[in-house]
Amino acid sequence: MTLLTAGDREQHYFICSQALDEVMEAQSLAVKSEVVLSPTCWELCEQEQIQTKLLGGKRSLKVLRMEHRSGSERQDAAGRFDQHAKMRHLERIRHRRPALIMSSDPTVAARLKKHIPAAALRKMDEDVPLHLWSELRPVTSLFVQLQFSAEASLLDLRRGLSNANRIISAILSPHKGEINKSLLFDKGCTFLCVLGLSGAKLQHESIHALESALQIVSMCSASLRKLEAVSVGVTSGTVFCGLCGHPERAEHTVIGHKVNLAARLMVHYPRLVSCDEATYTASRLPGYFFKELPETKLKGVTNPGHIYQYVGITEKRIFDMGLTKERSDYGPLLGREVEIDLFERSLKAYEALGQPHILAYVGILGSGKSHLLTELAFLGQAARHRVVTVELTEANVRQPFSAIRMLVARALGLQAGETCEDRQRTLQAKLQGAIEESRYCLLNDIFLVKFAIPDKIRKMHDTPRKRELHLTCTQVLQKTLGGEFGIFVIDNAHFIDPASWIIMWPVLQSVTLFMVMSLAPGHERTESFFKAAADSTMSQRISCLHLEELKPAAVVQKACRDLGVVSIPRDLARFLIQRSSGIPYYCEELLRCLRCNNMLLFRTGRQDKEAEDDWEGLVASAVEASHLVSATSSSSAGNNSGRVCTIRPDVSLETTVLPATLKEIALAELDRITLMKQTVLKFAAIIGPVFTTQLLAHILPTCIRQQMNYLLDVLVGDNIIKWLKNTGVPRDVQDAREGPATSQQAGSGAERPSMSEEPTEWRAGVLAFCAPLLREAAYELWPERQRANAQRKCAAFLEKHAHKCRSCHGGDFVAFHRFAVPSPQDGEDCQGSADEDDWHSWEALVLAGEQLKKDRTHTPEGSANALQQQQAFSEEELRASERFPPEGEGTTAQPSRTEEKEGGECSCKCEAIIESVLVPLARHYVAIGNAPRAFYYLLECAAAYLHVSNSYMALMKLNEAEALRNSMEKTATALDCFEEATFFSLKGEVCCNLGRVKLAKKMTRRALSLLKKRFPQTRAGAFVKSLWERFQGALCAPNRRTPSLPPEARRKKLAWKLQQTRCLSLLGHLYSLEGTSGGRRFSRLAALMKANTDRRMDSAREEDSHSANCLCIPPLLSVS
Ligand SMILES: Nc1ncnc2c1ncn2[C@@H]1O[C@H](COP(=O)(O)OP(=O)(O)OP(=O)(O)O)[C@@H](O)[C@H]1O
Ligand SMILES: [Mg+2]
Repeated sequence: MTLLTAGDREQHYFICSQALDEVMEAQSLAVKSEVVLSPTCWELCEQEQIQTKLLGGKRSLKVLRMEHRSGSERQDAAGRFDQHAKMRHLERIRHRRPALIMSSDPTVAARLKKHIPAAALRKMDEDVPLHLWSELRPVTSLFVQLQFSAEASLLDLRRGLSNANRIISAILSPHKGEINKSLLFDKGCTFLCVLGLSGAKLQHESIHALESALQIVSMCSASLRKLEAVSVGVTSGTVFCGLCGHPERAEHTVIGHKVNLAARLMVHYPRLVSCDEATYTASRLPGYFFKELPETKLKGVTNPGHIYQYVGITEKRIFDMGLTKERSDYGPLLGREVEIDLFERSLKAYEALGQPHILAYVGILGSGKSHLLTELAFLGQAARHRVVTVELTEANVRQPFSAIRMLVARALGLQAGETCEDRQRTLQAKLQGAIEESRYCLLNDIFLVKFAIPDKIRKMHDTPRKRELHLTCTQVLQKTLGGEFGIFVIDNAHFIDPASWIIMWPVLQSVTLFMVMSLAPGHERTESFFKAAADSTMSQRISCLHLEELKPAAVVQKACRDLGVVSIPRDLARFLIQRSSGIPYYCEELLRCLRCNNMLLFRTGRQDKEAEDDWEGLVASAVEASHLVSATSSSSAGNNSGRVCTIRPDVSLETTVLPATLKEIALAELDRITLMKQTVLKFAAIIGPVFTTQLLAHILPTCIRQQMNYLLDVLVGDNIIKWLKNTGVPRDVQDAREGPATSQQAGSGAERPSMSEEPTEWRAGVLAFCAPLLREAAYELWPERQRANAQRKCAAFLEKHAHKCRSCHGGDFVAFHRFAVPSPQDGEDCQGSADEDDWHSWEALVLAGEQLKKDRTHTPEGSANALQQQQAFSEEELRASERFPPEGEGTTAQPSRTEEKEGGECSCKCEAIIESVLVPLARHYVAIGNAPRAFYYLLECAAAYLHVSNSYMALMKLNEAEALRNSMEKTATALDCFEEATFFSLKGEVCCNLGRVKLAKKMTRRALSLLKKRFPQTRAGAFVKSLWERFQGALCAPNRRTPSLPPEARRKKLAWKLQQTRCLSLLGHLYSLEGTSGGRRFSRLAALMKANTDRRMDSAREEDSHSANCLCIPPLLSVS
């Protein structure tokens, strides 16, 4: 056996042996479902147990049959294995291989560490528990294949591998990429390289991967001996990253369809850098960086999409890189008045007074730099200037003099398709007088020309030659930029290569020019501009302006424009405003994702509300009433003829998956923090955008819980999460804090807590994520099973608090719900919490709920004002609230929920509990896949919203329940009869509140029939039924007792009866609204039936009243 070691800081070893070669041969001979043994393997087998056949002409053997071991034999073998002392030892140290932990010799440990992938080492170094190592991550995979010639000796191979390893690692390491796996075969070798592993995500990952691939090809081809071919396949997508295999031999690797695809691309498109469509799109590079490749059948891959070859910047394109998009390719530019104003003022000063100026617009990825520059270029042209535009890309940083070449080439008009002579002629003509003839040859490499090189220059040593080159370039730039050729626009000026920069920077500060550029923060060049702009001697000449995020009104306007509609639902507007943070690119990506996943519906004109008196019609009209109209809808209405957009009824925006592009941006942000902090965030993300420390502590593994206070503090310091402050929270919440039970929170809920504060176990408080995108990205990192486990824990914790508040006397929102539908067995037990802890948790949940409600009902800070000022909100908003009378209005005797109770005690907290307990419970159960339980909590939500007089939200929750019910039907999941009845009963109430009397009757009747209570349809039927009910009433003596039932059964019965009386009460009310004699008759009948049911119920209630777990019966609709 030969052991080849390759690499320096990270090492990979390859084993070459006869036995391995044999196995490889055996593998190649095996077809599907066959086992083929190599000769060496056969020698080691218990041959009497296996029947084999020699494969023709080979030494390998095909297995025909095997003696099966009995169960006890297998157990024996497993037992022997278990007894192995080392195994037990490994268990004690959480399955980590002993060598690294135990090696007391640091040099040995350091040497061994070289064989562990960097991503795994990062997790080990931070002591991230092993079971939390795995993630579902978007990464970019590169499969690199090196094919050596047949004559390559073992020594060549050894050298080749070692060098290749070094080259690849060096190329990838600036981008935090790593070689994850290397495989040796016959005369070649394959490397699986990955960018974007845990803690290593950077923005522009696909560009890094593609550029790295090109560099690997060129450097390996140039420096490896006997190398015949290099092929690279690049793909982007979400894969499983983490530990695979038995804990004893676990491997830290990546697995997924995209990894396989990269391997296939490498094989099927040899000698090139090929990539999939996702990488092509994610790079956002101009199309000319790629060539589309012909389709070919890729083994094991269905529908791979378009495949491209990455060619990078070709010579042909070197001269031709102006702004990639024309003004007409973009939609209208919104909300950039300040930026345009500055441009116009500076241009006037330049025109009139010859004042030189450099305008630098600084913005993060997707903030609209290119779009703005395109607009400014257009305005410059409109003012009759010649405008020279250049767009730099990241690849330009590594190309010496690329910025100068492009600027000068575009200014002087050097063409891509020109011959070398043409270019020479142009250069000579335009630069005449600016530089000496003899110096033209110094420009040869830069402009790909061939001016004759005079002896004087040929004989020059390196340093003076460089000096000459510097001087010549400076003169060329001075001539070019000095006003004669117009206005210069440089997009992505932070990508100016160092060679160009050294020459350009002094020229920019001295020459009279007018230049507009865009810069991204966090780059060296950007810093230079900032410094210069702050310097009093330069501030006249250089202005730096940050591109602000778009105002909420502009986001709505943009969404309407991009979708080609006049209005969008308020929920969609809020979703876009919150998720995009006003960054236009994010906004576009979110919309694109929603459209691609078919989540939006479009229609023209208004819905005829009266015509469609069904549930769907009601939902549609409610949603429509909450629409936001674009500020410019009046002007654009003509174009899109009143088209409106709605969200598909079964879609919940809160649970939509992030678009891959935004996920990458968020993860790059997340990966700036340590892995332990990320782990805490991942748990918090499961809870939701706002979370309480009690719940977080409940779901965190013990080893992390101990550090929770510290980690939360650091995360707050990093501005990733924030403690909810006293100011800015609604009055109710402040009241809640004032109570004695909340004193603990009052301190912690305000400013960042001081470290000196002695935590009891963990600090109590409520925190919120600063950016929703980050939470969602963290949430999506979870592998499904692990996430479900944590969600189960969350649900168990929350279920303890899933009841009405104290001032409403507790109990389920659907009366006796928990008795009618027993809790499932799979619910996690939430033990050990004392009553006092529960009270603190409750208080914290109230605070969290208030915040969540605020987030749900308000668009972010100042947006409402901004929108109203610009009249982006339509008056419909106001009408919408009129259209949905709250539960209390005319239909119930309930006092207003927000009113203070008598004696000035705390007011109702149910509203907050809906947001922080009931809604999350439904969400958790949906995610866990427990549909009946999710349905249960959706009903609780709907009932709770009715309880707090919010019919609109009750409608929305019932709509969600409807979608869930439909999906349960598809999977043949049975729905409890009581649940079904409650569903229709709640629908009836909502319809009633929204003035849909006919529909309400239909729903309530359906509920009653499900509750096994017949309500007649005809007058005759009503007459007969009235007689019967009167007779029943007479029979029902007040002290008549029903046969005693077990408490559980009694309460279940009570739940049914309560639901029946609720329906009867509602039905009576609905008939009374008719105002006809028939209506009155039905109404009286309903009252009679209700009275009888009430009477029967009383006895059960009496028995229950002294039970410890007494639950309140919610007030019914008051009908006389
Ligand atoms: N002010 C705006 N109004 C409307 N749409 C805009 C605005 N700014 C940018 N957009 C749109 O957002 C998208 C991203 O903009 P753009 O490409 O200009 O961003 P960028 O800052 O140049 O991104 P990058 O950092 O990747 O270069 C484009 O489709 C553009 O049309
Ligand atoms: Mg751009």
